[in-house]
Amino acid sequence: MPQERYEYITLIAEIMAIRKRGEKPLAYIHTYGCQQNVADSEKIKGMLHLAGFSFTEEPEDADFILFNTCAVREHAEDRVFGNVGALKNIKRRHPSVTIALCGCMMEEKGVTDRIRKSYPFVSLVFGTHSVAKFPQLLYNVLLHGNRIYDCDETDNTIYEDVPVLRDKSFKGWLSVMHGCDNFCSYCIVPYVRGRERSRSSDAIVAEAKAMIEAGYKEITLLGQNVNSYGKGLDEDVSFAQLLRRIDEIEGDYIIRFMTSHPKDCTHELIDTIATSKHISKHLHLPFQSGSSRILKAMNRRYDREKYLSIINYAKEKIPDVSLTSDVIVGFPGETYEDFCETVSLVREVGFTSLFTFIYSRRPGTPAAEMPDVVTEEEKGKWFRELLKVQEEIASVRCSKMVGDTERVLVEEYIEKKGLLSTRTSGNIIVEVPGDESLIGTFQNVKITEARNWILRGELI
Ligand code: SAH
Ligand code: SF4
Ligand code: F3S
Repeated sequence: MPQERYEYITLIAEIMAIRKRGEKPLAYIHTYGCQQNVADSEKIKGMLHLAGFSFTEEPEDADFILFNTCAVREHAEDRVFGNVGALKNIKRRHPSVTIALCGCMMEEKGVTDRIRKSYPFVSLVFGTHSVAKFPQLLYNVLLHGNRIYDCDETDNTIYEDVPVLRDKSFKGWLSVMHGCDNFCSYCIVPYVRGRERSRSSDAIVAEAKAMIEAGYKEITLLGQNVNSYGKGLDEDVSFAQLLRRIDEIEGDYIIRFMTSHPKDCTHELIDTIATSKHISKHLHLPFQSGSSRILKAMNRRYDREKYLSIINYAKEKIPDVSLTSDVIVGFPGETYEDFCETVSLVREVGFTSLFTFIYSRRPGTPAAEMPDVVTEEEKGKWFRELLKVQEEIASVRCSKMVGDTERVLVEEYIEKKGLLSTRTSGNIIVEVPGDESLIGTFQNVKITEARNWILRGELI
């Protein structure tokens, strides 16, 4: 398969060289959704790059346009359909452009039919399982000019040796597993990303090593539920063991990972973070609801007490641990009392930051069939109440850091503010005056000021 992939890449390069008369072809890639999609887009970019493409921020200039889509909430989907509709005019002005859609939405029932009917200018549609096949699919579209749909959700192969063009040269994503078997009752991901499957630990360690040798300072291990890494592999390896193997690689770098699921977040994992050299002192542990009744209806397979006991263990073993989380407001059947339990959990834990979502009904999931009496307006009110509580907590937590010294990774230069944006091991942003040449380096900063959840500081 890898050999075949490279042959198709060469063929695409040849076709584009003839079409563009030697000029470099341009691709515009827009990625919606989470890091899994970002990582997939980086693979697609890797293949396009090998086929001779450069990248543009202007769809109008592109020879190839791709939207990598997300299905997790209805709002995300509406945006995609709106933006795809707008591509019609580009296709009219530049008939030679190839327009493609991929990602999680393409694995949803009904979506491809809608595209077939309403968006005739889209010529290539492929799902999350077909990323490695991309060169073959694009080649066929370019050669034959007909529309191709490839959304085979039964293919659960893990493809190694797919070229990657990472967006940054100092921090990057590394997928350790794909898919999800948890079927939380509100969530579409298991239906669009397929069954859980782990990459071999040797392949992951080799990729981490290559990244560190290439100068990467931060590697984020990715999976929908990294804590169940290793299940189904021939080798006997847990996520904590995988982390320890990566941690042994020589060099100055940090390891992050996401996402952890509380139901199988073990003491072994927390002990590993506590004693490691390179793992950031940060745990992103989505709790989704503070009410055990709602957690049961969500099929999360832990309750409030279990969640808090993991948090307390982490606080005890990892001094200054930074905790972040995801939470859903307005799950079907949630009452104001349930919501108050969410608020009280947020207060009790003291998260550094919280990703807060209003429940979005996803057809095909069990929760979509559950009765829901709370109005959208009411949910909006709860949502704002929760945001306010979290803002207060984050601002108190950040204020306590004033005067501290932190080691940070410099990530980017914010033109508007004339400041560098840097990140602590605990995943907190510190803005500091400094020179662009420091991007991609570790620096020590003294925290001088807290502005809600963003810190200001100065380089030492
Ligand atoms: N695998 C990760 C999360 C993946 S989706 C985990 O289990 O934690 C990211 C977040 O989107 C979820 O944590 C959840 O908070 C939110 N989410 C998922 N489905 C949703 C829905 N139908 N409505 C609102 N939020 C949702
Ligand atoms: Fe969705 Fe639950 Fe899987 Fe996370 S663990 S991706 S929330 S089904
Ligand atoms: Fe969205 Fe797919 Fe991620 S549905 S959140 S891009 S796994």
